Amino acid sequence: MQTVYYPAMRIKKAVFPAAGFGTRFLPATKAIPKEMLPLVDKPLIQYSVEEAKASGLEDIIIVTGMGKTAIEDHFDTSFELEILLEERGKIDLLSLMQDVSNMVHFSYTRQKKPLGLGHAIGITKNLINDEPFAVFLGDDIIDSKVPAMRQMIDVYDRFGGSVLAVQKVAKTQTHLYGIIKGERVGPRVYRVLDLVEKPKAAPPSDMAIIGRYILTPEIFGALDATKPGKGGEIQLTDALKILLKKQAIYACEFEGTRYDAGDKLGFLQANIAFALKRPDMRNDLKRFLKGLKL
Ligand code: G1P
Repeated sequence: MQTVYYPAMRIKKAVFPAAGFGTRFLPATKAIPKEMLPLVDKPLIQYSVEEAKASGLEDIIIVTGMGKTAIEDHFDTSFELEILLEERGKIDLLSLMQDVSNMVHFSYTRQKKPLGLGHAIGITKNLINDEPFAVFLGDDIIDSKVPAMRQMIDVYDRFGGSVLAVQKVAKTQTHLYGIIKGERVGPRVYRVLDLVEKPKAAPPSDMAIIGRYILTPEIFGALDATKPGKGGEIQLTDALKILLKKQAIYACEFEGTRYDAGDKLGFLQANIAFALKRPDMRNDLKRFLKGLKL
């Protein structure tokens, strides 16, 4: 096995695939991108962008598609709104708006056809420039002391190679995830021996891939060689299986709570959990929840 390490190359770029139709949230997502649904008072995608920034990433590449311009507007400067807030003396809100648009550097590219997660990542090749990079799937919201991506970068700095975020899931849930077979090589770190996308039967373990990845640029060659898989789409997990033949891949069992905000129940749970952390809402919400006759 040829193992290529990139321990000296700092990870600066993060890819955010955001071209999906959000069918699980219809009709809410008919005219609004799923990524803009509010979690308490911030759009979903902003949580992962903040995680990227807190992990030291500087360049965010968002892969968008038809009907997604609200995402670009959200991270842009809103001149008229800023003037209005200034005139009305709403300085706190003004600085909140400016924080959003000054957060990091954003670029956008469009996925013209819905050919899957692997395809969405493949089209960023020319923007990545032969360096390792991070990927965030914005449906996965991770609440943790140390940002999940920061924990993964620490694994990358130590081991090199690609790094996948993983978490144990119930045996009944393995068919919903990419599942790895791993060998423990450190505290919460595994070397990946095999991986399979959404196994119908006989999953290789209960370790599920969660939507955070660090990928070496060799993934692009592997993606080119990947045939359509589950659902007729180019699957990232299938490309990683090809990459594994050439390079070591590691898995980081991050510390933190993950919410599947791409699922209606997970979205509601995330809203309640994040609202309960907010000093301005916590007590009233607790009182409301306790008063529910369940
Ligand atoms: C994608 C990946 C899957 C991974 C999951 C994490 O699936 O294909 O391997 O486990 O994200 O959220 P999706 O949920 O987009 O169908």
